Amino acid sequence: MSIFYQVRREYDLSHLTEAELTDNPFELFEIWLEQVMKIDAIKDPTAMILATVNEQGIPSQRTVLMKSVDSSGLVFYTNKNSRKGQDLAANQQVSVLFPWLVAERQVIFSGQVEALAESENDEYFSSRPLTSQVAALVSEQSKPIASRDLLEQKYHQSLAEHQAQPVQRPPHWGGFKIKVQRVEFWQGGEHRLHDRFCYQKDKDKWIIERLQP
Ligand SMILES: Cc1cc2nc3c(=O)[nH]c(=O)nc-3n(C[C@H](O)[C@H](O)[C@H](O)COP(=O)(O)O)c2cc1C
Repeated sequence: MSIFYQVRREYDLSHLTEAELTDNPFELFEIWLEQVMKIDAIKDPTAMILATVNEQGIPSQRTVLMKSVDSSGLVFYTNKNSRKGQDLAANQQVSVLFPWLVAERQVIFSGQVEALAESENDEYFSSRPLTSQVAALVSEQSKPIASRDLLEQKYHQSLAEHQAQPVQRPPHWGGFKIKVQRVEFWQGGEHRLHDRFCYQKDKDKWIIERLQP
């Protein structure tokens, strides 16, 4: 057995105080995001862990990149035939977590996803580099494949075909917006006395509560 009792540290970088809270959680989120984007050690500041639940009630998680945010929600893109895509077709409830551990922070959102309009999917897909477009085209995300060679073969063949003609977005590739119901901001504190604030949506108002660590 490996024991990790001693793998621990104090969290003492900062506090989150009532005075810093904004009425709308997206304003505070954007302030925090701007701050963590300046920290070199945080390599993927927009990466979030997306949890979904399938038809049998079994949860699963994976990292996706948030591609936009405003007070209407958080947007990410994926292959809708993937495991997460199938979960989302059956159950629109999700939770996402931004693990900004270097800043001793995490932000957790939960809510319901809505599929983006096809025009929005096209707009983002066409902004991606050709290589990413081709990878999206050839990857049947979440399905097994016999070898890496086979994957590379599919990729290079498709890349060669698309040197002269643009890549059409596959119909199963697109985005979702998370319509947020709850947000929790966590800032690590000394002696495990962390600052936690929860924003819960109540019609068009946000109810804010400090939570015990
Ligand atoms: C940093 C990082 C960013 C990622 N961004 C995305 C993304 O934006 N969209 C996506 O579909 N998968 C992304 N992935 C891959 C997913 O984590 C996952 O492997 C894939 O979507 C298949 O998940 P599923 O089988 O649960 O559907 C990313 C992985 C990492 C580590």
